Amino acid sequence: MFKIIVVDNYDEASSEAFKVMKEEVVGNDKPVLGLATGSTPIGLYKKMQADHKANGTSYKNVVTFNLDEYIGLPKDHDQTYYTFMHENLFDGLDIPESNIHIPVGDSTDVPAECVKYEEAMKEYNIDIQLLGIGANGHIGFNEPGTSFDTLTHIVELKEKTRQDNARFFGSIDDVPTQAITMGISTILKSKKILMVATGENKADAIYGMIKGPISEDCPASALQNHDNVIVIVDKAAASKL
Ligand code: PGA
Repeated sequence: MFKIIVVDNYDEASSEAFKVMKEEVVGNDKPVLGLATGSTPIGLYKKMQADHKANGTSYKNVVTFNLDEYIGLPKDHDQTYYTFMHENLFDGLDIPESNIHIPVGDSTDVPAECVKYEEAMKEYNIDIQLLGIGANGHIGFNEPGTSFDTLTHIVELKEKTRQDNARFFGSIDDVPTQAITMGISTILKSKKILMVATGENKADAIYGMIKGPISEDCPASALQNHDNVIVIVDKAAASKL
């Protein structure tokens, strides 16, 4: 079931998302947050850091699990999601490093890492999973055609996704070809989902997620099977609803 909140712009979307996140952080003894990378969550993460600094909101008991990570880059490479999350969120909070979970993309045994990651999530149960959406409807690195039964797994990145991310690398050739991602089944296990999307290029994907057929052609349409999804969209992303 979707609760849809339409706002005017990106900053308002970030503020609304922050309210939802803060409620989880202060409302649980041991909040378990599922987190995402990409450009969309940056505004939300800035607000979480600012709130921690100004109001002392504590993240000491917060446990996090990130959606995905590139395969093959060393952890401290400037384009890993490990680096992204520390720079954009964790370094500005009081969260203990041991509470942070991100798939280990340079593991010597990546299939075993996928199993280990899924097992770790089972122990905790994610209270809220933050998601962005790709223009093609992907969630995490689950591209169109991904089975809804998938757990944490290895994906070959589609050319389009590699191109979309090339702006963060020197050239398209430097973008990894594989990633580890939570599967669609993994994502659906979280108690609550928070989807944030802004801009006209997300309008088709948002339409497919909410009003389209439930189909592997639009991975986000799997969220129609979840009973608690909060969708925060600006007018442009909501324009086709
Ligand atoms: P974006 O990516 O936030 O950079 O638009 C979202 C996604 O591809 O999941």
